[in-house]
Amino acid sequence: MTERYAVIGHPVSHSKSPWIHAEFARQTGQHLSYGRIEAPLDGFEAAVDTFRQSGGRGLNVTLPFKEAAYRYSDELSERARGAGAVNTLAFRGTVFGDNTDGVGLLRDIEGNLGVRLMDKSVLLVGAGGAAQGVLGALMDAGVRELVLANRTVAKAEALAARFAGARASSFSALDRAFDLVINATSAGLAGEPLALPPSIWRPDTLAYDMVYGRDTPFLAAARLAGARACDGLGMLVEQAAESFFIWRGVRPVTADVLARLRAG
Ligand code: ATR
Repeated sequence: MTERYAVIGHPVSHSKSPWIHAEFARQTGQHLSYGRIEAPLDGFEAAVDTFRQSGGRGLNVTLPFKEAAYRYSDELSERARGAGAVNTLAFRGTVFGDNTDGVGLLRDIEGNLGVRLMDKSVLLVGAGGAAQGVLGALMDAGVRELVLANRTVAKAEALAARFAGARASSFSALDRAFDLVINATSAGLAGEPLALPPSIWRPDTLAYDMVYGRDTPFLAAARLAGARACDGLGMLVEQAAESFFIWRGVRPVTADVLARLRAG
C-alpha cells in the first residue's frame, strides 16, 4: 500500500517539499505519496487529526505551526526539545516529533558548501523561531564562538542564555569579522535590509541566508563586501532528506535534487 505523507502549513501552495520528496521516493524506490495541507491558522490540530485518522504516516510542518507541532507530539527528540519546535511528525502509534532544520543547515554548510564548522567564529542574526531552531545544532558542531545578534537585544539575550557558550549582542556592538554569518531573520522576506555594520565581513566569510529563492539585501550586502553569499535552498533539501530518513530509514542522495532545483 502506498503510504501517505504531506507538508502542513499556511501558506503551503509554493512549497517545494512535494517535489523534493517525490524525487527522493523515486531515487530510493520507496512507495509513498506526498501532498500539501493548507490548514486554517486556528485549525492545525484538527487537520493533523484528520490526516492521521485517514492513515497518514508523517508530516513536515512549516510556518506558522512548528510550535503547535511541538505541543502536539507525544514524544520529542532531543533536537526538537532544543529547538522548541517540530518540523517533522512521525505517526507510529504515538506521535513522534523531531526537528531536522539544524542538521539540514549543518549538512548544507559542511557537506554541500565545504565549510567545516569546528573552531569557526559564527554570527547568528535573529532571535525568533528560525534562529532557535538551528542554535543547538551550531553549538554541537564545535564552533569556537557563537554570537547571537538581534535588532531587539533582549530577545537575543534570552535565547543565548539557554545555550552554554552563546553570547548576545546588538547589531551596533559588532566590531569584527566572522568566519560565518547566518541570517535567521525574516527581514529578507520583506526585502528589508539589516542594519549590520560592514566590519563583520572578510573576503573569506561565508554569508548564509536561511531564506531561499530570492536575493535578499543581506546577501547583496555580503557580496558587496567581497564575501561568499549562499541562500538556504540547500538547507531545505537537507532537512527534507533527514525527514525522509526518519520516516523510511533510507537516506536519499541530495546533490542531484539540489542541482535540479537550482537549475529551476
Ligand atoms: P521566525 O520564526 O522566522 O524567526 P519571528 O519569530 O517572527 O520569525 O522572528 C523574526 C526575526 O526576524 C526576529 O529576530 C526579528 O527581529 P526582532 O526580534 O527585533 O523583531 C527579525 N527581523 C524581522 N525584520 C527585521 C528587520 N527589518 N531588521 C532586523 N531584524 C528583523
